[in-house]
Amino acid sequence: MTFKQQLIDWRRELHQHPELSGEEVATTARIRHWLESAGLRLLPYSLATGVVAEIGQGEKVIALRADIDALPIHETSGVEFSSHNDGVMHACGHDVHSSVILGAALLLKARESQLAGRVRLLFQPAEENFTGAKALIKAGALENVSAIFGMHNEPGLPVGTFATRGGAFYANVDRFVIRVTGKGAHAARPQEGNDPIVIASQLVIALQTIASRNINTLDSVVVSVTRIQGGNTWNVLPENVELEGTVRTHNADVQRVVEKRISEIAAGLASAFGAHIEVDWFNGPITLINDEKWAAFAMQVAKEAGYQTQTSELHMGGEDFAVYLQSIPGAFVSIGSASEYGLHHSAFNPDEALIEDAARYFATLAEQALLIK
Ligand code: NI
Repeated sequence: MTFKQQLIDWRRELHQHPELSGEEVATTARIRHWLESAGLRLLPYSLATGVVAEIGQGEKVIALRADIDALPIHETSGVEFSSHNDGVMHACGHDVHSSVILGAALLLKARESQLAGRVRLLFQPAEENFTGAKALIKAGALENVSAIFGMHNEPGLPVGTFATRGGAFYANVDRFVIRVTGKGAHAARPQEGNDPIVIASQLVIALQTIASRNINTLDSVVVSVTRIQGGNTWNVLPENVELEGTVRTHNADVQRVVEKRISEIAAGLASAFGAHIEVDWFNGPITLINDEKWAAFAMQVAKEAGYQTQTSELHMGGEDFAVYLQSIPGAFVSIGSASEYGLHHSAFNPDEALIEDAARYFATLAEQALLIK
């Protein structure tokens, strides 16, 4: 079987048997088996799911990371190797990422004696719920690693296209829940209550002024209210309304201003309307910040490998790879997967033609990174 076909077969097998974040037991067993059969050395970390392998000898260590989890989505792509696990789907292409890094592992294994150090391969679980990177770091997977690289496929880019950027790339992803407590009343006698629906409505509008009036227009920010719940019939004013939403930023100072303004606006409206407004803020994934030098290096290696390269735009989503980059430098990159339907869509269908080239790219990237002082 050709190298290319092997990688496609592995990707399809992973695709047919997707598992949710933290439940990647069979996926872990498959990847372990494939790596061991290829003669790779697995590191004995104590992990519930996920695999770490290593190739080469020496002091210097470069890490390559793939993610292995899937999403709670019912697949409608219609491909012949569709999910056998109804309601779960590799709709983010982590099966593709895994196959790419498996391919890089085989290529690096074949030139193990020429490597100027070690390449550590991280098959990370639980990317989608942002807990996997932390678990691998806790197990020791970053020990002695001088730089780490990883990829996400990019459905909006053609196959053969590569993009990355130095500095901030993926966003801080935060969530807020706001509870407005007024006083319920008969809908025909509003003066006897304190209508939280009217207050919540003002709040939604007022929150829009954070992006438009408090943040520098040259900074990236999103403030979205995504859920409003209150009341259950037509002739009663409810007692409570709950709002939920998300904030996306690429800079900790901007993030702090948004959090502060949400609290101030809530407190001001509570006082103006004599209601009680409570704000809960949940910090999610942190901004992914690529090292400038390694991002430029990754781009250069991609150019030499024949990719069409471009500087990425800021990404408003979150990516768990950010957690590694808090501890050690490295770069996260995008590789075109030309899917008509986007990430997390039930009909997402990345072009497998990217896999072999990306595997060759990551093997070369790691090999050359080992040569950098
Ligand atoms: Ni993903």
